[in-house]
Amino acid sequence: MVLKVSQRGQIPPFIVMDVLRAANRRQAEGKDVLHLELGQPASGAPAGVISAAHQMLDNDLLGYTEAFGILSVRQRISDYYAQLHDVSIDPERIVITTGSSGGFVLAFAAAFDVGDRVAIADPGYPGSRNILLGLGIEPVLVPTGSETRFQPTPELLDKIDGKLDGLIVASPSNPTGTMLGAEELQALSTYCHDRGVRLISDEIYHGITYEQPSLTALRFDENAIAINSFSKYYSMTGWRVGWMVVPADLLRSVECLAQNLFISAPTLSQYGAGAAFDCTDELDANVARYAENRQILLSSLPKAGFDRLAPVDGAFYVYADISSLTNDSEAFCRSMLEDTGVASTPGTDFDQGRGNAYVRFSFSGPTAGVTEAVERLQHWMA
Ligand SMILES: Cc1ncc(COP(=O)(O)O)c(C=O)c1O
Repeated sequence: MVLKVSQRGQIPPFIVMDVLRAANRRQAEGKDVLHLELGQPASGAPAGVISAAHQMLDNDLLGYTEAFGILSVRQRISDYYAQLHDVSIDPERIVITTGSSGGFVLAFAAAFDVGDRVAIADPGYPGSRNILLGLGIEPVLVPTGSETRFQPTPELLDKIDGKLDGLIVASPSNPTGTMLGAEELQALSTYCHDRGVRLISDEIYHGITYEQPSLTALRFDENAIAINSFSKYYSMTGWRVGWMVVPADLLRSVECLAQNLFISAPTLSQYGAGAAFDCTDELDANVARYAENRQILLSSLPKAGFDRLAPVDGAFYVYADISSLTNDSEAFCRSMLEDTGVASTPGTDFDQGRGNAYVRFSFSGPTAGVTEAVERLQHWMA
């Protein structure tokens, strides 16, 4: 008898995880791999986080916390907004989540119903698009290009047929690393406000910027949902902890969803996260390493033939247009891995329509690996 399988799970894979599997298989065969596929800091959590975690392990029961998280940690997050962004956020509106991924699930489930339509830039982070799909919400892909720094604009949103219920922006973005300036973010927030569209701002790469500091959407729109994480700037990917700022009208819905779906984010990780705000020296040193890696890639990739690169304002990715080299980025990345040991992510992960013309290189790893990778690519392309 064939048993029923829900449509909900019939969503595209996260291709970078498939690439990682191929890269790991290669490593298991004794061949080397330079990991330029994963957006994962090469450094672990900062020392202050580790020692706070040791202390809590030894002294705390580590039971459940309330669904929104430990109040003192939420207060630290509120202080962060006051200090870095000059916005006052009531800690009661701050929710500690299981990574920003957990935040997406809560935010989308609380704000949208099945059949609602949410605009999102194409290319964009596949997780946001695919979580929407899994929840029965329609992702409305907004094709973007270098003319708008791969970011949505009111003009592009105007071209969409039919009503929109939400807009997701990400600045700095994955895969392009491009950012929205104050004017652009203001214009998008006014667009949303005037049309009753819920703005969701993915701010997970805040703190990793090279030209100008990142801006929170909360400065422009008190009804926006801001989603952030300890995974990237704070170097705590596997701790699975992030946070979200929720507007008043969604608070109780998010709380009921959080209580029932997750109970609470991991307690040890919440304590570690609280300590992360005191570790900025160590974390800024990581950003200095990303800046150095970025410089190496931006100067060397064009010499290897990757000469059409999106401007890398922030995050740790270079999104390269390879349309003059191939029309099959997945095959291109497979050959690159086989021939050179350099793992990269095909653009199809981020843009199902035009992704075959792009590849994403992550420079979150060690500088020696990035340097070695570009040397190998130069030989390979020659
Ligand atoms: C733009 C963006 N948002 C969200 C996430 C999810 O991260 P996490 O769940 O670790 O916070 C990622 C991960 O790479 C990302 O690139």
